[in-house]
Formats: sequence, structure tokens, C-alpha cells
Amino acid sequence: MCGIVGYVGPREATPILVDGLRRLEYRGYDSAGIAVLGADGLVRVTRSEGKLGNLTARIEAEPPSGRTGIGHTRWATHGRPSEENAHPHRDASGRVVVIHNGIIENFLPLKRELLARGVPFTSETDSEVIAQAIGAACADAPEAPFGEVVRTVLSRMTGMYAVVVLSADEPGVLYVAKNGPPIVLGLGADENLVASDATALLSHTRDLVFLEDGDFVRLTAASVAVTALDGAPRSRPARRVPWDAVAAEKGGYPHFMAKEIAEQPTVVVETVGHKLSLETGHFSEDAMGVSPKLLADVDRVVVVACGTSWHAGLVGKFLLEEVARVPVEVDYSAEFRYRKNLVGPRTLVVGISQSGETADTVAALTDAKRAGAPTVGVVNVPGSAIARLVDGVLATHAGPEIGVASTKAFTTQLVALALLAYYAREARGLGRLEPGDPFLEGLAHLPVALQQALALEPAIEKLSRALAHARDVLYLGRGAHYPVALEGALKLKEISYIHAEGYPAGEMKHGPIALIDGELPVVALAPRDALYDKVASNLREVKAREGRLVALVSPGDEDVSTFADETLVVPEIHPALQPVVSVVPLQLLAYHVARRRGCDVDQPRNLAKSVTVE
Ligand code: F6R
Repeated sequence: MCGIVGYVGPREATPILVDGLRRLEYRGYDSAGIAVLGADGLVRVTRSEGKLGNLTARIEAEPPSGRTGIGHTRWATHGRPSEENAHPHRDASGRVVVIHNGIIENFLPLKRELLARGVPFTSETDSEVIAQAIGAACADAPEAPFGEVVRTVLSRMTGMYAVVVLSADEPGVLYVAKNGPPIVLGLGADENLVASDATALLSHTRDLVFLEDGDFVRLTAASVAVTALDGAPRSRPARRVPWDAVAAEKGGYPHFMAKEIAEQPTVVVETVGHKLSLETGHFSEDAMGVSPKLLADVDRVVVVACGTSWHAGLVGKFLLEEVARVPVEVDYSAEFRYRKNLVGPRTLVVGISQSGETADTVAALTDAKRAGAPTVGVVNVPGSAIARLVDGVLATHAGPEIGVASTKAFTTQLVALALLAYYAREARGLGRLEPGDPFLEGLAHLPVALQQALALEPAIEKLSRALAHARDVLYLGRGAHYPVALEGALKLKEISYIHAEGYPAGEMKHGPIALIDGELPVVALAPRDALYDKVASNLREVKAREGRLVALVSPGDEDVSTFADETLVVPEIHPALQPVVSVVPLQLLAYHVARRRGCDVDQPRNLAKSVTVE
């Protein structure tokens, strides 16, 4: 995942930037770069594809000298990993440089506007538009204070960003802005730093300022001025953090699980960016892990997976059948391997695994290969056993997932499977994604919708009080939201040790309805979709038996929310992506219930992150 570091002060910036980037390496990246403002008033940018060693070799050959600088590690989203797409990005004059984490949702119209006035773009990234737009605005208003220009340009950007801007015309100053991805300032003696993650700062200072969304900062060696984007002053006192190295990696969150839930808007973008251009609708065949010809020829798909990954497979079945009209079976790996599995060359076997090491899934895929079936792995850990075993990898780019309960790996699996469904649709001659397709627009909007879902946290935290004493909880959903209900129940049981079950809402009357009374909380997914009315009737059956109903509904809901005891309004998005957004409140609910019960959220009893035994 992308990393940011910046320095302003009396010391040489380059070694500090390189050290900071090294400390951010664990997040994963595919290119890196730094920009340093020299005493001659020129900004020198050094960038390179691949590991930091490539960058440092270039830096050693020609070390840039200067006392203000910014550095970045990039994990490709918009545009492939390459030197041109690596940050920092420059404007046309080369005097404005920018590093950016996140996604600029409206970069296309802004880019078109700049192209029309002759601004030459040199990368495929959304980030370059920030540098170019600032450069163009400076050219239009040469007398305007640089900070004002940056602020005005950023207020035209929609989407998510942590941005650091440096101008050759304002030495000794960095501008920092946050809307979404984390960014933290490090306050030193006669020097100041900025980074996307405190890990990069702790060798210099423990006095940190965690910025909030909408903050805009003018940072010099001696001062920190925080305002809102509209210029209104904001107060952000520094905090002295007592972290050790491991705690620092949590980036200020109390648990890895909380951090990983919060990272979802960023990692879904990274998962998409490697595989599909939102601009053109073209898929990268290499990144999809399977050829269109094979997808056109197969008679069916069999998914093998365990736990949360199996739930992702169930959502994938729904999408592949609906969008690409290919029959799909989803099997537990541990069952598949001991059954007559009847797969062969015309069955595509898809193994889903965050760790890529789960013994049952490795065995299931090995059996499938032996039977002559082509195999694909939806895997988060590059180079893992499954990544090496399968014929092709459809990678999720969730980054390291440390909390045992899977969260961001699940949502990236859902996104990868949605892409597979549309890719298979095209391969099977059922239609291709044209620019502006609602699915592409949904993908572009997904990080913002996830951010809005994360904003439900205070309400969910409140709700967790009522659930923390429950003995059992029933989760209900239909269609693609049935597996989301299963996932919500699994999360709760794994980390809070409360018994929970997920059920298809329409199946409740065939048994579980016997459990319903005033003591049993029922958490129901009732988004506005084709099955909404059916779900609403099922939930009336719950209320008729005095069940305590918590309903997740769409904005403007007029039915279920009138009789539910508690309602959470979940942002609405393209139906193929709705499960990605709907699961977030359930992750947060499990997290807060577990915290309230004093459970070890990151390392629940009896569970391991990677289950390498049968
Ligand atoms: C649930 C969880 C487990 C895993 C399962 C499969 O939060 O983490 O259910 O999903 O053990 O693991 P992977 O995806 O690594 O194969």
C-alpha cells in the first residue's frame, strides 16, 4: 500500500526520506520516489520502479541535496507500476511536486479540462492531476499565495486523499491535506515531519499530530498551522505516544482489526487498479489470472475455500451466475477434497484464500489439478503456497492482514470476484464494460461509500452495548446478502465468543423461527434490491414474535425502518458491490461487542491466522 514521508528542517532531507520509506516497506509497494528542494531553487525528483534498492542505487549515484523533501512508496492503482507512474508527480513547470495516497474520484473531468488547455500529462495516475491542476492555477494567478492556490485546487477534488505538496517557490514549507487516508505529523526540535504511518516518524520524535478529515496544514521547520480547507482555523494538539515498534504499526488504532477495517476504502482501490481501467473498461488479462478463451470454454466454475473466504465464494457465485451466466458451485475445501469431485478440463476451479497457505484449500486445489481442471487462486499473499500452485493468480491487494479475524481481505476478495464476473461476461460474449458503465461508476464511488459506512461507527459502538450481553444472535439476509449475514455471524462468534448464526431470511420460518423471543437479537440485511419486499415480510415475522430487530437498510427506507428496533442506514451502491459496503457495519459491530466484552480482538482464542493443518 502507498506510503508517504516528508521532511522540513535543518538536516539533509534525503537520508531521512529514505529511512522513512524503508520503515513503510512492510505495507507493500511496487515503486518509490523522492523529491528534494535544493539550495539552487530546483526540485530534484528521483524515482524508480521496484524495490527501494533500485531507488537508493540512483540516489547514491547522484545524491540530491536539500533540506526540504517528500518521499513516497506506491502500490499501483491507476496505471501500472512504472517509473512514470511513481510519485512524486510534477506539474508542467517542474516547480510543484505532489505525493498522494487515495483516489481522486473526479480526476477524469479535471484531467480533460487540463488537457484541453494544453497541459502535458506524463503518467496514467489520478495523482498527477493534483500537481498539474496546482501548476495551472499558479500560472493563472501568479500573485496568489501558493497555499491559497493549493487549498482552492484541493477543494475541487472529490474522493479520498492524503496529500503533501512542495513548491520550489516556497522553500522550507510543505502543505499537507487529509480527506480519508491517514496522515500524521511528527514534531521535532527545529524540524517537522509528516508520514502516512507513525512508524516512519518514531525514530525522530514521539510527539505526533494525527490529522482529521478536512484538515489542511502549512508545515515549516518551526510551525504547524492547521486550518480547514475553507481556511477556518483548527486546533490539533500534539500527543506524545509511548509506542513500541509493534504498536506503532497499528498507526494509532487500538487493534490491528480496527486499522484493517479502516483501510478498506484504500485497499479495494488497489485491488481494482491492478486489473481494470475505470476509464476504458479494459481488463488486464495478466492480472485477472485466467484467459478469456478459457472462461468462454468452461461449463462451470467450482469455488473451494474455508471460513470467510468461503463466504466470499458464495457472493462470487451469485455474481458469476447473475452477470456471466455460468453455473457455480461453492464447496468447503475440506469437504471437496474428500468427495468424488467430478471436475475436469471444462471446470474452472477457483481457490480463495487470504493467506494462500490454508492446508485444506491447498489440498483441494491439488486434487483439482490432478483431475485436469484449470485453477485460479484468489490470494492475498504473493508467493504463498496457493499462489505457486495454481495456473493463474487473481490477486487481492489488501496488504498484510494481521488481525486474525479477516476483514479487509474479505472485501478485496468480493471486489476481485465482482471483477471476475464482469470479465467472464465479456469473455462469454454477453457484453463488455463501456466507459461510463454503472459498474465502473460504482467502482469509482466504492471508496467513498466505504468511508461513509465507516462513519456509522459511533452509532454501532452505541448499539454494541445492547448486544454485548446477548447469548445468541441471528443474522439474516437474502440473495448476495445471505453470505454477508453468514460473515457477520462468523465475525461476531470468532472474536466475541457469542454464539451467532447466519441464515437466509426466507429459510427462517423452516426452523430458526422457534428461537425468536424478546431475548434474541436479530441483525438483518435489508438493502433496497430485488428481494427487499420478501425480506421485509420475513422481518415482520421476527417482530410478530417480539424479536429484537437491528436492520441495515438503504437511505430513504420507508418500510423495515418503521418497525425495526434499531436501524443503520448503509450507503447504496451498484448491486454487484453492495455486499462490500454492507459487511462493514457488521465488522464494526463484532469489533465493538468484542471490545466491550474485554476479548482479545486481534488474537481470539483457539484461532490462527494461517491454518496450515488439516
Ligand atoms: C475468519 C477467518 C477464517 C479464514 C479461514 C480461511 O475471520 O479468518 O475463517 O477465513 O481460515 O483462511 P484463508 O483465507 O487464509 O484461506
